[in-house]
Amino acid sequence: MTGRFIALEGGEGVGKSTQGRLLAEALRARGLEVVTTREPGGTAGAEAIRAMLLSTEGDGWGARAEALLFAAARADHVEKLIRPAVARGAWVVCDRFVDSSRAYQGGGSGLSDDEVMALHRIGSEGLLPDVTVLLTVAPEVSAARLALRDGDTADRIGGRGAAYHARVAAAFRGFAEAEPKRFAVVDAEGAPEEVHARIIAALIGVLP
Ligand code: TMP
Repeated sequence: MTGRFIALEGGEGVGKSTQGRLLAEALRARGLEVVTTREPGGTAGAEAIRAMLLSTEGDGWGARAEALLFAAARADHVEKLIRPAVARGAWVVCDRFVDSSRAYQGGGSGLSDDEVMALHRIGSEGLLPDVTVLLTVAPEVSAARLALRDGDTADRIGGRGAAYHARVAAAFRGFAEAEPKRFAVVDAEGAPEEVHARIIAALIGVLP
């Protein structure tokens, strides 16, 4: 039996990594092999690209170069880790995937969705998650969580202004509305265990 590919998406400070851990534990408790991973990253090559993308040294990347680098990191990750894991029956829980490129490099930075998806077709043969869990919180909640997490050490993309992150959040909401079958939108406010229970409820049709 092939596995499943679940992506967690959302803006900064919505609790994706905590929820990824809790979801992986819940899936393992059901006897499944689970691979947890993240983007940009997940393989040695993609982690090297991550360091280039998020570093605050140098003069940064234009939107197009940035989109190409994310697509290149994703291509390595999909080919070497995600596709082989799903093919052998594992469940992959990935912290961010292509919808982050659509929301940040698209909605935030102004590339068209067609451009972002063209890069994804070339890089990763258009692979999409079986389910994309979109975690949403009010902007002031994510700002407060981020201040706790990052203090004044935000990375190059996380540190972009409130207007940028508002465009990102609006883009994510639009994708979920356009593709309700692939997306599960989950309110990420409240205690981590409460949010986890909402995610499990949203995945009920997918879980074994
Ligand atoms: P992280 O903070 O969730 O680890 O993600 C790193 C940053 O990279 C975050 O600000 C979102 C951004 N990002 C993009 O801009 N495009 C992408 O395709 C991905 C995967 C992440």
